[in-house]
Amino acid sequence: MQALYLRSFGSDNLSLAEHALAEPSEHEVVVRLEAASVNPRDSQIIAGHFTPNVEFPLIPLSDGAGIVTSVGSAVSRFKVGDRVTSLFFPHWHIGEATSGERAISTGLEAPGVAREVAVFHEQSLSAFPKHLSAAEAACYPCAGLTAWSALFDKSHIGEGSWVLVQGTGGVATMGLQLAKAAGAKVIVISSSSDKLNQAAALGADHLINYVDTPDWGQRAFELSGHGVDAVLEIGGTATLENSLNAIRHGGHINIIGYMAGIDMGITVFPLIIKNANFHGIGTGNRESYERLLDFVGAHEIHPVIHQRFPLAQLQQALHTLDTESPFGKVVVEMDGME
Ligand SMILES: NC(=O)c1ccc[n+]([C@@H]2O[C@H](COP(=O)([O-])OP(=O)(O)OC[C@H]3O[C@@H](n4cnc5c(N)ncnc54)[C@H](OP(=O)(O)O)[C@@H]3O)[C@@H](O)[C@H]2O)c1
Repeated sequence: MQALYLRSFGSDNLSLAEHALAEPSEHEVVVRLEAASVNPRDSQIIAGHFTPNVEFPLIPLSDGAGIVTSVGSAVSRFKVGDRVTSLFFPHWHIGEATSGERAISTGLEAPGVAREVAVFHEQSLSAFPKHLSAAEAACYPCAGLTAWSALFDKSHIGEGSWVLVQGTGGVATMGLQLAKAAGAKVIVISSSSDKLNQAAALGADHLINYVDTPDWGQRAFELSGHGVDAVLEIGGTATLENSLNAIRHGGHINIIGYMAGIDMGITVFPLIIKNANFHGIGTGNRESYERLLDFVGAHEIHPVIHQRFPLAQLQQALHTLDTESPFGKVVVEMDGME
């Protein structure tokens, strides 16, 4: 069985090697991994831009999906043949995270899923809906759960809500699909008119090119009539002021990404005047993740996959994510590895 190991920072330092599988203990499950998705965090970890505290060699990637091939004697959550995904935070199962639960993430403090086979504790996996392929299921542990936590757990959106989604990447396309399935109206902003057309095909109600319309927050406020209920804040520094303009009084800004800067240098008055709710989003817990997967199953949602690569070409997959600004998710697949 093979795994991709990162031996020092830099994607040039990824290499396939034999991976000896530990014998599963009574509460552990062996999973043959079929696919993993790639997130900006994975790219940053590999490049050495996320944290200097990496223990080498590291098996990277947080989000994997596959099939259970054997179970320990005391396992009750799964049986052989079940189809499962990893969890982004394998020990955070319910409620707000303790610092211990938040301290361990897959593909950084815990070994990742860039491998053919892995042993997981049964509490660190979730079953995924039958209509999804493994490649599709692998899109949900980070990007899917982040969009879900923001829209449903924090912003309580539903039928008739207005949602503003920034960009057209992994989290944004998840947010668009989930919000539409819940009956919300969705405004998508992007730098690309082509990608806005793709967002319209996915169900976006209104499209704004944020390069052509720099005051897109005001435009979104007008389109929604009274301001939007929730924003998926992906940009950071460059977008926050517009997000504040876009929301209704008492609206929700979900701080998720930092694609356009990490410094939130804003004045306090717009927050006070709008009674704004700010939520820092750090993916989410297993209970929330399993509600997301139930919802995806009930609505038969298929996530958008921009491009697939064999696992051995993870370096190219990362390059695509970093340089092409994909519409949807980038996935690696384990099939056909020698
Ligand atoms: N907090 C969490 O739990 C969590 C979880 C997942 C990801 N994240 C973070 O969220 C961000 C997005 O992740 P992702 O997986 O969706 O990445 P991605 O697939 O690479 O998508 C990035 C998106 O950012 C958009 N963008 C960049 N600059 C923008 C700007 N100035 N205004 C509006 N949109 C802008 C791009 O939009 P266009 O190309 O359409 O213009 C692109 O669609 C990253 O910073 C990531 O680290 C956080």
